[in-house]
Amino acid sequence: MCGIVGYIGTEQASGIILNGLEKLEYRGYDSAGMAVFDGNKINITKAVGRLKALDEITHGGESMPGNAGIGHTRWATHGVPNHVNSHPHYNEQETIAVVHNGIIENYLALKDKLIGKGYAFVSDTDTEVIAHLLDYYYKGNPLEAITKVLHRVEGSYAFGILFAEYPDELFAVRKGSPLIVGKNETGSFIASDVPAILKYTRSVYFVDEQEVACLKADSIRFFTVDEEEIKKECVHIDWDENAAEKGGYEHFMLKEMYEQPKTVQDTLMPRIKGEDIVIEELGMSDEDMRQIRKIHIVACGSAYHTGVTGKYIIEGLARIPVEVDVASEFRYRNPVLEEGGMVIVISQSGETADTLAALREAKERGFKVLGIVNVVGSSIAREADNVMYTWAGPEIAVATTKAYSAQLIALYLLALKISKARGVLAQEEISCMMEDLKRLPDQIEMLLNNKTKIQHFANRYIGAKDIFFIGRGIDYAISLEASLKLKEISYIHSEAYAAGELKHGTISLIEEGTLVAAVSTQKSLYQKTISNMVEVKSRGAFVLAVTNEGNTEIEKAADYVIYIPETNQYFTNSLAIIPLQLFAYYVSIGKGCDVDKPRNLAKSVTVE
Ligand code: G6P
Repeated sequence: MCGIVGYIGTEQASGIILNGLEKLEYRGYDSAGMAVFDGNKINITKAVGRLKALDEITHGGESMPGNAGIGHTRWATHGVPNHVNSHPHYNEQETIAVVHNGIIENYLALKDKLIGKGYAFVSDTDTEVIAHLLDYYYKGNPLEAITKVLHRVEGSYAFGILFAEYPDELFAVRKGSPLIVGKNETGSFIASDVPAILKYTRSVYFVDEQEVACLKADSIRFFTVDEEEIKKECVHIDWDENAAEKGGYEHFMLKEMYEQPKTVQDTLMPRIKGEDIVIEELGMSDEDMRQIRKIHIVACGSAYHTGVTGKYIIEGLARIPVEVDVASEFRYRNPVLEEGGMVIVISQSGETADTLAALREAKERGFKVLGIVNVVGSSIAREADNVMYTWAGPEIAVATTKAYSAQLIALYLLALKISKARGVLAQEEISCMMEDLKRLPDQIEMLLNNKTKIQHFANRYIGAKDIFFIGRGIDYAISLEASLKLKEISYIHSEAYAAGELKHGTISLIEEGTLVAAVSTQKSLYQKTISNMVEVKSRGAFVLAVTNEGNTEIEKAADYVIYIPETNQYFTNSLAIIPLQLFAYYVSIGKGCDVDKPRNLAKSVTVE
């Protein structure tokens, strides 16, 4: 995601900020900027594209002199990547400057209020709201203004803030997004991540939720949201610089798997408003949703697998027929698109050539296209009629994990929204399901914390020749993704089958000791899948089952069982996929494969 660096002290701030931002480049970004107080006023410089551009226009920071500053690398969420949307953002008098990581969920409501009070906005960002809100509450005491803002904003954030009237101070606060504060003999630092300041200091404070840090050149003080001062322990960081770039994780894939609770939270929570699901960017009224006769979902790779899940969910919850296509097939098969058809394309990168071509094909035929996209301002995001963003942040490992999880959330929300508009589910049922959705981040976290058990199990299959995944309904969709994850990073041959289809051929491939992973999370299909497990077991397979807590009956048919916590039957993919991602990861590193960059694969496939 975005990166934050700030400094106040006896050295020039700009050089330190540029150096720190460079250390955060690996996280992905589309623009950069910094604000430096020059003794009279706060100056801001921004540049779209690489950090090098900011470095060049500021002559390595020399044209921005001053001892206090904040810098930012932006990965667009609200508003396309351009100059005006880049951070830092000012209030109108240019006396308050803010950088921000995260998402302000209630920014539209706050923006409306501020516009009503005469504030003028120049950008499309949620961050600019904070600059104006600080201005609104600022009566000469920065701490008071910041804490008032904290009482009003919802969502996740880390802020770095400068007040022109307090040139000797730099302020920082966080909730849900990481932020650290550091100190050396020349001054004090803020950063969104450890590597940004490792060159300057290894003495840091980890800022806790809603704590405000007030930094001066020679002191750092911390306050609660009620302005009470608190004492914090300084921590010594002994990471080497390379490990630090992955946040201490061995690989980006592992780091990104661990980011899934936050990704799910970020994609979900801004769209839940009380009892309602609000997807403003859908551009559809309830009446429009009632007019849908058929939905076409088109995507590639893992995004296609979320589409397969989407078919089961939308058909189940909204009772609309759904066709799912691999984009490279859709674009050439002359699909029948009829009136009342809705086309959804799903893509993490927003640049996949076949998905983009499918989008254009649908548009040429006069159909409106909804894009479910992760990268803001990408080709698919620009060309789709409406875009529902997944807020997963940049994904670096080739094998997708967190973007996949975010896409599932987008589809759940969409299915529930359409279901409600069409009167298929009653509000009570929808409310219950929304509670299940809200529990997903914690449940995913719990499954991730069980990684050692999966690691031990995975170590037994490093030498495997073939591994099969089976399931029915949504469990089949989960199997497709689990199988792709395994084969793409471990190079072990793997296939996913609809469990009922096994006996039509695949079962002849089962040999003594072949691993068959059976996904069984759909209660109405337990018995059917158990029968299929017995079939392969009796032909020598070793059966791993992934099922819901409480389904202990499965232990009769399985050799090894992984339980997932209870959730609604339509949301089990979000939980069952976690141990299967971990399994693929540990088999891959056990074999010594290049897990983040598997051979022959690209993160974004921009050719046919
Ligand atoms: C590549 C990636 C996959 C991804 C697929 C679709 O094959 O390796 O992880 O699922 O492209 O990419 P998209 O960016 O359109 O989601």
